[in-house]
Amino acid sequence: MSTVSLGSFDFAPYRSLSNEELTTRIQKVREDLGSKLLILGHHYQQDEVIELSDLRGDSYQLSKMAAESSDCRYIVFCGVHFMAETADILANRPEKIEERNGQRVTVVLPDMAAGCSMADMAAIDQVENAWDDLGEVIDTNDITPVTYINSAASLKSFVGKHGGIVCTSSNADKALKWAFSRTSRVLFFPDQHLGRNTALTMGITEDQMPVWNPYAGDLGGSTEAQLVDSKVILWQGHCSVHQMFKKEHVDAFRRNHPGIKILVHPECMREVNEIADVSGSTGKIIETVRKAPAGTKWAIGTELHLVNRLKKEHPEQEIHFLSPVVCMCATMYRIDLAHLCWSLENLAAGTPVNEIYVDDETAKWSRVALERMLEVSA
Ligand code: 13P
Ligand code: SF4
Repeated sequence: MSTVSLGSFDFAPYRSLSNEELTTRIQKVREDLGSKLLILGHHYQQDEVIELSDLRGDSYQLSKMAAESSDCRYIVFCGVHFMAETADILANRPEKIEERNGQRVTVVLPDMAAGCSMADMAAIDQVENAWDDLGEVIDTNDITPVTYINSAASLKSFVGKHGGIVCTSSNADKALKWAFSRTSRVLFFPDQHLGRNTALTMGITEDQMPVWNPYAGDLGGSTEAQLVDSKVILWQGHCSVHQMFKKEHVDAFRRNHPGIKILVHPECMREVNEIADVSGSTGKIIETVRKAPAGTKWAIGTELHLVNRLKKEHPEQEIHFLSPVVCMCATMYRIDLAHLCWSLENLAAGTPVNEIYVDDETAKWSRVALERMLEVSA
């Protein structure tokens, strides 16, 4: 959800400004707004955007930062749409609004086209239909819905209403444990790989994880027996970036670079994830490299901008990109200095553009599911 305002300044002229000019103008707005402004940057952002961010992090860290922000009145989110929605929900909790004497934090996404193709693979009507269909064969009181944070606020709200929880790639195991302490089954969406990789580490087997295809008609393409015997019903969604890393890439690196360690994000497929040396969120990937001794050799399977930044920041190590083809997140890449400058100058002029606003009812139930996540991860 978002509100549309034309703003005081058109975007077109910003395209022709140099990065130096844009940086100077962005810095000017940062100085003018001071602590009222918080620019958050996800690790997949371009270097020049990261350099101008006040705080950077993975999805979990950024949602905590939004939840904890106190002085700020504006959050400009350099990331994708679901992240800005989450920031709006958490920064504008009723107790926070009260602390600010009724003032909301304005959350802005510099380019509205910065979505997430994985999040788009589960629409609320598809999830509601799946829930109703599941109710025909199993008791839905015995299913906990778990949504990856990479999902629209409407799905988080569905999860909150149905006793479920949100997770990120850094706490999916905790969220699944929490879910299994309540019910014997989980419906996990939208990323089948994160769901499968996490459940496998808990001893759940592949045959207990049917995949729900929202386009397959009856019972999402599974048989009644498969659903009755299931532990985790996985939504058929994936990240198009992380799907690009293949087992043969891992094999080739191991063959050609003896001693190399493979470090991947859990959105990668099972065949890649289970032969990797380390699997974890973007935050964990950064920490793992940071703590490794000089001379360590890595092949890293996650978004290109982060891997290139790690190469620059750790010249004492040997870092390779796991895939031979370029795989970058095209939507994260939409946030550039021109969009950042344009959105900041409109904000400073009092005519915010690209404001992300989640309606009260959706925000209320999403918050329930998000707060459960923050609690289990604390
Ligand atoms: P993180 O939770 O590791 O930040 O991942 C977000 C994401 O979109 C990965 O594709
Ligand atoms: Fe979505 Fe994949 Fe991009 Fe992450 S990397 S924002 S999951 S498309």
